[in-house]
Amino acid sequence: MISKKMADALNGQIHWEMYSAYVYLAMSANSDTLGLKGCANWFMAQYREEMEHAMKIYDYLLEQGAEIELMAIDQPQKSYPSALAMFETALEHEKDVTRRIHKLVDQAITEKDHATQIILQWFVTEQVEEEANVSEIIGKMKMVGDKGNGLFMIDRELANRE
Ligand SMILES: [Fe+2]
Ligand SMILES: [Fe+2]
Repeated sequence: MISKKMADALNGQIHWEMYSAYVYLAMSANSDTLGLKGCANWFMAQYREEMEHAMKIYDYLLEQGAEIELMAIDQPQKSYPSALAMFETALEHEKDVTRRIHKLVDQAITEKDHATQIILQWFVTEQVEEEANVSEIIGKMKMVGDKGNGLFMIDRELANRE
């Protein structure tokens, strides 16, 4: 059993993971509109991952006998001026998620909630990877350019993500 306070915070994280999914789904649609099929594929994969993150916490809460409380999800931004702008926004978003995960860990430590600390460790590691992946794409776009041939090349590479 976990505390009500911890359960509330984890329910809040379900909301954030689902909001992340929503943000990436909108970016996927926007990429498609811009003719960037590879970016659309990459953001769609990201959307699915975020839904999996939400469900990981959902399953954990139920396992712990806690109540699930789903919250309203805000409308995500519909369009961006460029692919680079999308990835830069994605990076800022991931940094925000990382801060939220770390706050949850702090709370689990304060409460001496070992089980929640363990499940959150997976998220701590995942966030390092998420930020690194997005940073790498931004780096490439800045190197070869986020227009014309450079963007075409990166888009083709992003089409390979499964
Ligand atoms: Fe996530
Ligand atoms: Fe993420």
